Amino acid sequence: MRAYVITSSDSGYRGERRDLSGPAAKEILEQSGYQVEGYALLPDERALLADKMREICDGELADLIVTTGGTGFSKRDCTPEATLEVAERLAPGISEAIRLHSLKLTPRAMLSRATAGIRKNTLIVNLPGSPKAVEECLRYILPSLAHGLEILKGTAGNCAR
Ligand code: MTE
Repeated sequence: MRAYVITSSDSGYRGERRDLSGPAAKEILEQSGYQVEGYALLPDERALLADKMREICDGELADLIVTTGGTGFSKRDCTPEATLEVAERLAPGISEAIRLHSLKLTPRAMLSRATAGIRKNTLIVNLPGSPKAVEECLRYILPSLAHGLEILKGTAGNCAR
């Protein structure tokens, strides 16, 4: 499976702060057997984020896009909105599972507006922007995502049959 990491961070993009969440996601994905095709560090701009997601999905550059950051309440946070703009189908169970798991670790997990959806053959999953959150969320969902991605790609049968 191929993955692509997109980080949404104004300060990271401007070079004021080193982004650690994108590299953390890349490392965990690679440890889990994913080939990471790219990492884009973008400002918190909905159009730029949506364009990048479209480019990856429509160009079939990855099976999974993991975004980090931009899911909170800051006025500039817009990763979920960019994701909803490009998604053709929603995958709410993934975000529900992330929040359910994360709430056991910190009550502040309720402050993430992260979402998940599918465009063409690519699944897009939003994660919060701290490396700690990326670690907690990604390690939790990856074992189950593999089966979903196989169904999306048509390499695994429908579970009901
Ligand atoms: N989820 C997990 N698993 N661990 C965390 O530390 N931090 C929360 C929440 N979700 C957190 C988490 C906090 S403090 C915020 S503000 C929101 O994610 C949004 O983060 P973001 O704006 O970096 O996307």
